[in-house]
Amino acid sequence: MDFTFTEEQLMIRDAARDFARTELLPGVIERDEKQEFPKEQIKKMGELGFMGMMVDPKYGGGGMDTVSYVLAMEEISKIDASASVAMSVNNSLVCWGLETFGTEEQKEKYLVPLASGEILGAFCLSEPEAGSDATSQRTTAKDMGDHYLVNGTKNWITNGNSASVYLVIAQTYPEKGHKGINALIIEKEMQGFEIGPKENKLGIRGSDTHSLMFNNVKVPKENRIGEDGFGFSFAMKTLAGGRIGIAAQALGIASGAYELSLEYSKQRKAFGKEISKHQAIAFKLADMATEIETARLLCLRAAWDKDQKKNYDRSGAMAKLFASEMAMRTTVEAVQIHGGYGYVKEYHVERLMRDAKITQIYEGTSEIQKIVISRGLLKD
Ligand code: CAA
Repeated sequence: MDFTFTEEQLMIRDAARDFARTELLPGVIERDEKQEFPKEQIKKMGELGFMGMMVDPKYGGGGMDTVSYVLAMEEISKIDASASVAMSVNNSLVCWGLETFGTEEQKEKYLVPLASGEILGAFCLSEPEAGSDATSQRTTAKDMGDHYLVNGTKNWITNGNSASVYLVIAQTYPEKGHKGINALIIEKEMQGFEIGPKENKLGIRGSDTHSLMFNNVKVPKENRIGEDGFGFSFAMKTLAGGRIGIAAQALGIASGAYELSLEYSKQRKAFGKEISKHQAIAFKLADMATEIETARLLCLRAAWDKDQKKNYDRSGAMAKLFASEMAMRTTVEAVQIHGGYGYVKEYHVERLMRDAKITQIYEGTSEIQKIVISRGLLKD
């Protein structure tokens, strides 16, 4: 088994690391405090090819593999998880969904500007009463012949206000349950589409999270993705890859907190020596590094499965489950190692601890990952 990265993968990782340090680090504390979306930075990430990394170059993407995407996601997330969630949703959910299941016309019209980072996309599945229980969609897309009439509300939508294109999951035939659900491409300017207030969140505060309201929005039939009734399958297949992105985000949050803790513990002295020389701290660092490496291997395994066109439902869910739980444990320890300094904003680790929490919730809670993993195991 060969664990070495290619020259190209290393180049992408280093470019993401440089970008994160030079462009995202300055202002990250202020953006978190003011809940300010990193608009300019995301624009530059688009110019550098980070917003449509895996998309075929013929649609304006980078043509890179999922391993490179995981490496870049880790680096961006070490510094700014608000920027990395925008990146993850655009890459894994919106661009992948459109490239894999969209028509040629949909790709030309929507994927090209999304993949080149010219515009941002959002993925709209969650509702006030359909988070984990995603089959219970209340948003409706009534078939009106040449168009759908969309009504309902979506909640906690990443890139909610910054996006221009929204992939919206809605129920067309309630009597058919999840087999009656469709996925529609909705443009921000469509009449009857309203963006609700921004959520005031615990973490990833720079990310732009909103509820969305659809009031008789007329969506042309050609904006449906896939066959009639394909919407739930579309959402599940798309989320399977999304989970690799969020696993890599959790990995990055944890490794960012670990690197800061390692540095701090080598500087800070207590009881006559650097705290890293006290076994109480050294053992924490050893545990953190071991868990981070485990999560990294799981993320890369899932990415490799995807690149090799193998099934990645289970490996992606395992990566997401372990990395997100590990990120929470690791960031709590990072605050502990920093002591009082860890509890104030200037040292970054309190933000990383707040940011870690969402990785256990979005794109399926830890319990959802266990459902996906155990169903896969029981099928074998
Ligand atoms: N690929 C293809 N089809 C799949 C699938 C997959 N990975 N997983 C399930 N399906 C299909 C099933 O085969 C089934 O179809 P059939 O009846 O034709 O066989 C159908 O979907 C329904 O599946 P289940 O009967 O298993 O449905 P369920 O309700 O028992 O459970 C679930 C499904 C896995 C729990 C699912 O509801 C789920 O994943 N929930 C979590 C949703 C989620 O992750 N939300 C995140 C929102 S997006 C987000 O967070 C983005 C962001 O902002 C960062």
